[in-house]
Amino acid sequence: MNILSIESSCDETGIALLKDTSVVSSELITQINKHKKFGGVVPELASRLHTESIHFLIEKCLKKAELCFQDINLIGVTKGPGLEGALLIGQTAAKSLSTLLDCPVIGVNHLHGHLYAAFLDNPSLTFPFMCLIVSGGHTQLVVARNHYQFELIGQTRDDAAGEAFDKIARYMELGYPGGPIVEKLALDGDPLSHSFPQPMLHQGYEFSFSGLKTAVIQTIDRERKNNTLNVENICASFQHAVFSVLSKKIKKACNDFGISNCVITGGVAANQALNHFLNKELTPLGYNCFVPSKINCTDNAAMIGLAAYHRFKLDENPVLSNYSAANLGSVNSGLSI
Ligand code: KG4
Ligand code: ZN
Repeated sequence: MNILSIESSCDETGIALLKDTSVVSSELITQINKHKKFGGVVPELASRLHTESIHFLIEKCLKKAELCFQDINLIGVTKGPGLEGALLIGQTAAKSLSTLLDCPVIGVNHLHGHLYAAFLDNPSLTFPFMCLIVSGGHTQLVVARNHYQFELIGQTRDDAAGEAFDKIARYMELGYPGGPIVEKLALDGDPLSHSFPQPMLHQGYEFSFSGLKTAVIQTIDRERKNNTLNVENICASFQHAVFSVLSKKIKKACNDFGISNCVITGGVAANQALNHFLNKELTPLGYNCFVPSKINCTDNAAMIGLAAYHRFKLDENPVLSNYSAANLGSVNSGLSI
């Protein structure tokens, strides 16, 4: 089965072609350089840029895969959560192609996509596993029991982990997106130079990063005033606090649910220091950590295609009309896993 998948939930236009579970081609155009000067993503600009890229990328992917439109058997498209206008560009392309080609289309929850990204690099990964999704918009702990048997057991009450990276980077005028910049600067800093709060440690599987962000900002203000600001130390200590919370929560969840395999996915999981930190903390306790490769941690269309494939396969006799363009529904930005 040839699956065309489309991801346009934020500032990256992604198109992929999969042959069942194998990625045949995957293309991405990032808009980061266009949003940078505004310090974050401008939704209207994002929509316009998706419109400019999407057709070009679909044709590029088909060409690379040596396929034509008529070879497409299934379309997977991100249906949310994300920026409404941006999602609409992907959905409109998906619905139009589905109607023209008379092929089914599946709306994929972006967070299901992040979870399925784990299988792109580790096809032999087996259920059950504990999944920590850490992205720009979400921080969620999910028990993944089987395909599409996902239980959300905890999430952030305020800022997502990636959002906290972006906000503190912005406060220090380091650029956008903050995650990779903070990671790089932290390499030259001392993670123990500041003892930042590790919030919600005793509140089950819930997270909160807003208080930590405020504590970091107050420290930046104080050090700026005293001319003692050491950006590298701030970055390293901030990261240390985030990593410690993530590690303690996932450890507790694995222990409580008796699960030994963990997946850490989403943009923040692209952070190599987080990867090392979690491996160091979890491996000696007998837990296995699976982190997708960098490009599969951040937004991409291959993960959406794989999620669509498994959704489709779940029905033994799929009623194709269930997956028609008309049934795709509207964008749901409030969607959770
Ligand atoms: O999953 P993603 O690409 O998009 C969303 O679904 O939100 O995640 C983007 C987020 C941004 O907040 C970005 O700063 C963060 O992931 N991020 C990182 C790193 N690379 C991206 N955070 C920490 N370290 C990184 N290396
Ligand atoms: Zn994402």
